[in-house]
Amino acid sequence: MMNEKQVIALSGQHSQLLIKVGEAPEICYWGKPVSGDVSQFINALSRPVPYGRLDKDVPMTLSPELARGLFSSPGLEGHRDGKDWAPAFAVIDIDQCADNGLALTAEDTVAGLRLVTELNLDQHDVVKVRHTLINTKAGVYQVNRFANTLPLPERANELMTYYGRWVHEFQTVRQALPQGGYQQENRRGRTSHEHYPALVAGTTHFGEQQGEVWGFHFAWSGNHRLRVDVKADGRRFMQAEAIYLPGEIALAEGESLSTPWLYASYSADGLNGMSHHFHQHVRHSILTNEMKAKTRPIHLNTWEGIYFDHDPAYIEQMASQAAEMGVERFIIDDGWFKGRNGDKAALGDWFLDESKYPNGLAPIIEHVNKLGMEFGLWFEPEMINKDSDLYRSHPEWLLAVEGYEQPTGRNQYALDLSNHDAFEFVLARLDHFLSHYNIAYIKWDMNREIVQPGHQGKASGHQQVELYYQLVDKLRAKHPLVEIESCAAGGGRIDFEVLKRTHRFWASDNNDALERQQIQRGMSYFFPPEVMGSHIGASHCHSTRRRHSINFRGLTALFGHMGIELDPVRECDEEKQGFEKYIQLHKSLRELLHTGKTLRLPADDPAHLIHAVVADDQSQAVVMVAQLAMPTNSLSGTLRLVGLNPDANYQISLVDQPNNFFEGIVSCQPAWCYEGIHLSGEWCDSVGLAMPIMDAESAILIKLEQI
Ligand code: DGJ
Repeated sequence: MMNEKQVIALSGQHSQLLIKVGEAPEICYWGKPVSGDVSQFINALSRPVPYGRLDKDVPMTLSPELARGLFSSPGLEGHRDGKDWAPAFAVIDIDQCADNGLALTAEDTVAGLRLVTELNLDQHDVVKVRHTLINTKAGVYQVNRFANTLPLPERANELMTYYGRWVHEFQTVRQALPQGGYQQENRRGRTSHEHYPALVAGTTHFGEQQGEVWGFHFAWSGNHRLRVDVKADGRRFMQAEAIYLPGEIALAEGESLSTPWLYASYSADGLNGMSHHFHQHVRHSILTNEMKAKTRPIHLNTWEGIYFDHDPAYIEQMASQAAEMGVERFIIDDGWFKGRNGDKAALGDWFLDESKYPNGLAPIIEHVNKLGMEFGLWFEPEMINKDSDLYRSHPEWLLAVEGYEQPTGRNQYALDLSNHDAFEFVLARLDHFLSHYNIAYIKWDMNREIVQPGHQGKASGHQQVELYYQLVDKLRAKHPLVEIESCAAGGGRIDFEVLKRTHRFWASDNNDALERQQIQRGMSYFFPPEVMGSHIGASHCHSTRRRHSINFRGLTALFGHMGIELDPVRECDEEKQGFEKYIQLHKSLRELLHTGKTLRLPADDPAHLIHAVVADDQSQAVVMVAQLAMPTNSLSGTLRLVGLNPDANYQISLVDQPNNFFEGIVSCQPAWCYEGIHLSGEWCDSVGLAMPIMDAESAILIKLEQI
């Protein structure tokens, strides 16, 4: 047992963690890097003990324990036939790892449990933490709750949290952190549109560029609970956990359970600083190796173009036109497999529909490849319709509890992945297509929520998620170069654990540029643009029935992994020229957009959203100003461009604007819009440029190049 208290420092570029390890580990500092004798921190931060409570100080440890007198939500709740329910773990081993991390082993010999805590701070200032529990005694240990806990300082008193729904993902809301704390629970069986598993705590009025913030992302694709608690003594902490269904986690002697990883980052430079840390972490540690070097090709996805109406000759025409516009990957979405003529039948029957494709898939793939494009195909592997050959021969493969009727979602049910034969069947069907055809990419969809995840009568919600990960992993092991887009009715399953095994997310089924501006902004706090699928849809948006110009649609889709989602054959020449223009623009900026630093810039007019990407070496940048609604005033103030090199000079030019920008809506625009201008980075940041006048639902693009 470690009676001697010691302080271990984990240092990043812009943040530091000081961990006091005695009997139990406590993070006593998480903020800007500090220098000096760390051993002094123990005294500097030793707390007073007030009257009216326990007679000794109780540390806020990495896994709070009732047995130590910490009256907070415990890190672990469980029992062994009603006993061993309030463990207290004592650290027996500290392993300082080469990757700026710690592995702490702690034991409770009475309860017969061991707890291993892994904690790392990477070079991009992202902390990751998880616990593993091992049952070391005879008898089954039933785990009810098992959480990750990180402390917050008392000055963290505001929150940015998320809400949303289908076609309205990643909406953010600001709120004060009240005495009662904050809690969000997701019980939808997947990451969910409603409760994206992340939040940010910060100092009063924290913003994009200012304030201290502590951001958290919980990498788990099932049910979860996030809380930020304010204790009665004012101390506060963030806690994240997978929610287990009754009885589903039972550890026999020698068995273990790990929590999902909790990712977190401190920034002294507001939300932009935090996002940069997470984006760099995603780029360097989450995304798989083979993907890092590859340029992300422009997509054409058939879904909103033809839905279930598949005719190979027509699809080949679509492909030819797509290639002419500069598309680099052509994806056939839902509707290609046996009996899939609408969304009521056929899920599970992963065989080509020969009535639609009498000559097979190969001729289309060859056509697409000859045009110089990669080919992609849609699947929804975890699902089954009752109206399918699969269900008719295996009704027992449904994820359900006998005796209860499962409600349908999009007319479908989930497959019980804990059923070995069901798991192997789906894997074999996917493997068949990837082995027999030149498929470079699959879109992996998941269109319903999980209600009663049952396997042989017992709850298996946690296992269903783990088996989904295994299914993707096994397929990837066989086909490591096939890229996967993760989709769940748009953005219903977007998290780091999914991203470790996929390459791109379909952010939303909403291609309306106005809505997308907000959705993409919300997503940008934790994800870099290259993993966010962002498509130009038809001028008449299918999900909102709004109409938008090609300028607004094109510039909105530019700041992601760009694609087109419509039927090019039916589009008029003017629209086609627009698609081609924005595809070329994206290609010319792609490297900058997909490697640079994302910044959400301040706006004088609340009707603006301003989004920028600055090159790592600050030699160039692009800025999009989106006018979401009518300008609030007749003039819109100045555009301040932060994040540039203050000592460098930049050539600033307007690269794209709506058709009526120079005439029709104004007598004249600011002088720089006509001829461009040279300005220093310092001027751009401190003084800025006069903002032009713009119509609602339009955007402009500005390019800055160092001279
Ligand atoms: C939901 C997805 O989000 C859409 O993009 C599309 O793939 C449909 N499913 C197909 O059924």
